[in-house]
Amino acid sequence: MTTRDFRQRLKAVASATEELLDTLLPHPGKAAAPRLARAMRHAVLGGGKRIRPFFVCESARLCGAQEQHALHVGAALECLHCYSLVHDDLPAMDDDDLRRGRPTVHVAFDEATAILAGDALLTLAFEILNSPHTHPDAAVRSNLCALLARAAGEAGMVGGQMLDLEAEQQRIDSAEQIITIQRLKTGALFRFALEAGAVLGGIDERDERRKALRMYADAIGLAFQLADDILDVEASAEELGKTPGKDIAAGKATFVDLLGLDGARQRARELVQEAIAALAPFGDEAEVLKQAARFIIERRA
Ligand code: IPE
Ligand code: IPE
Ligand code: MG
Ligand code: MG
Ligand code: MG
Repeated sequence: MTTRDFRQRLKAVASATEELLDTLLPHPGKAAAPRLARAMRHAVLGGGKRIRPFFVCESARLCGAQEQHALHVGAALECLHCYSLVHDDLPAMDDDDLRRGRPTVHVAFDEATAILAGDALLTLAFEILNSPHTHPDAAVRSNLCALLARAAGEAGMVGGQMLDLEAEQQRIDSAEQIITIQRLKTGALFRFALEAGAVLGGIDERDERRKALRMYADAIGLAFQLADDILDVEASAEELGKTPGKDIAAGKATFVDLLGLDGARQRARELVQEAIAALAPFGDEAEVLKQAARFIIERRA
């Protein structure tokens, strides 16, 4: 993967990730619980942008880590992300029927199976992270497990999902509150993706490059959710592969609700500029990450 073109790089990472996930996910023919294995495969395979694995690979490349290691971390992160989507779509949460252009897991199977498939994907993520294929040094693997646990749990994605649901019941009118929700529910996994490459490359917490990657991640994490919220208003089901118009109907707290579409677009552009500025320590080497930041707000899905 030597091209400097973002789209080609994303495509290459997505197909390598798909292939790896196919081998790492349980196969119904050999699984302890074949129905669960089928639901897990439905949730993970054959769709999705794989943008989080892309960020793991690109940060690993910038930090001198091996691509095979990065692909394993990316696969683990994608399992965790897909679990978050399966649970996010449940009737008790966002109640969605369509995901990646297909019926959601609770529609294709049933609610109990969707809950269990999510649980099994969450634990599989840590099993993958802890495999020697992810890194030969157990200290590096342990560091990655601790970082992902924090990014995914109460102080990260799950905490953000809680606040997102609570916000449906109350009027949220401060940008700070929306930023807090988005940092947690979406930003935390992006931060993990970009930090993971640095951990694989043996780059210390206090290193300038690691700080730069964190600043970049925080800006694109917010921009990513902003773009998702804008697309919920202006894109079609065909483009999105999910049902649009759900956020207003549910009374979600979003920047589109707070600032209107133009205000939200402007804020997204500012975040992309912030993200690009944060990459200064990497010079020309960060060209692909700069393109990725622009893609995040220009995408149609
Ligand atoms: C959707 O994530 C959930 C959000 C955090 C907004 P993605 O837009 O990355 O979904 P896939 O993986 O490409 O389907
Ligand atoms: C999802 O945010 C964030 C997650 C942690 C899954 P949304 O609820 O807006 O994501 P979509 O629009 O359903 O993909
Ligand atoms: Mg949601
Ligand atoms: Mg949702
Ligand atoms: Mg959304």
